[in-house]
Amino acid sequence: MTWSIHLKPGEHTITAHPSETLLESALREGLIIPHGCRTGACGSCKGRILEGLIDFGPYQEQTLTEAERRQGFALFCCAKPLSNLLIECQDLKKSNGAEVKTLPARVQSLELLNEDVMLMTLKLPANENFTFQAGQYIDILLKDGLRRSFSLANPPANNSFLELHIRKVDGGLFTSQVFNELKEKTILRIQGPLGTFCLQPEQEKPIIFMAGGTGFAPIKSIIEHHIKQEQSHRPLMLYWGARSLNGLYLKDLALSWQQEYPFFTFTPVLSQPQPEDHWTGRTGYVHQAILDDFSDLSSYQIYACGSPEMIQSGQDTFIQQGLHPENYFTDAFLFQAPSSGTPTQP
Ligand SMILES: Cc1cc2nc3c(=O)[nH]c(=O)nc-3n(C[C@H](O)[C@H](O)[C@H](O)COP(=O)(O)OP(=O)(O)OC[C@H]3O[C@@H](n4cnc5c(N)ncnc54)[C@H](O)[C@@H]3O)c2cc1C
Ligand code: FES
Repeated sequence: MTWSIHLKPGEHTITAHPSETLLESALREGLIIPHGCRTGACGSCKGRILEGLIDFGPYQEQTLTEAERRQGFALFCCAKPLSNLLIECQDLKKSNGAEVKTLPARVQSLELLNEDVMLMTLKLPANENFTFQAGQYIDILLKDGLRRSFSLANPPANNSFLELHIRKVDGGLFTSQVFNELKEKTILRIQGPLGTFCLQPEQEKPIIFMAGGTGFAPIKSIIEHHIKQEQSHRPLMLYWGARSLNGLYLKDLALSWQQEYPFFTFTPVLSQPQPEDHWTGRTGYVHQAILDDFSDLSSYQIYACGSPEMIQSGQDTFIQQGLHPENYFTDAFLFQAPSSGTPTQP
């Protein structure tokens, strides 16, 4: 059995399988609903069920409150249809051909960028045309239906290999394998491209990028893509935060962009510099460095990627300092969500 889903804004109708989330059905049919974590934790995919019945699926309760549920809101990365539906999304785009695919990928190389970050390069089958947008991510598909998300760090033009920056998580199921067991030539299964953390090309506002740790990965892809395009010289300002100098694992690359491109600046920020770092640069939290440098953020866009805490600290304070909420674009590195949710009718 399948269900028919009408999506607003616009006049779009898709077919949904009961086993798929609404987001999965839309992506399969070439429609992009805004999304990030796909685990019910970030809220990017929140929209309204105007007509019909859904299973809300597993999601984090702080991301979808009881009051919002009563108003008909749902998280489309978790909700599954129980009838034909009319739904309203925050924003809806047709995919530009970047179809979500499930593919084998060979581990081409594993290179330590520092003791906690591995550069893993994946090679896709030669006959596959895998296209993505700068800023998107892939899921690595593991046993028992588990999956782990990692941002693509290379620009889309260099898509013969996929570059991932993987931070070691103590006791982490997949990242422990990456650091301790995984060998070159191993075949993994991946799914992607996913996510909507992409540059808004129609805008000309100067951009502040805020990266925390491996949150640099999608920002590297976006900056390298932008540099290659050479279409606009929109000012780009990168603030990259880490605890100590070691955490800025590709700082020489960022410094080389600053030397080469007059429209690009790089501000490294350390929260706990070590004596051996001999650090004379900025210290403290990376979002605070941005607040200190820009007393009025109303004419900027901010793209932030890294821990949910960093992104949340930025959200509250940047908006107080003039940033328009629609100019804050985020990609939070969230992990597994606890489950909740029961079937219900809005
Ligand atoms: C859209 C998206 C893109 C991402 N891109 C990247 C990327 O480019 N590079 C990268 O290094 N990570 C990225 N992440 C985070 C990454 O997916 C997780 O850190 C990773 O899945 C951990 O897998 P694991 O199996 O090793 O740990 P798990 O076995 O899943 O976790 C073990 C425990 O470690 C803790 N934990 C797990 N991950 C984190 C974390 N990120 N921060 C703090 N505690 C954690 C949790 O308590 C968890 O219960 C991204 C996440 C998302 C949602
Ligand atoms: S809550 Fe649905 S994509 Fe994050």
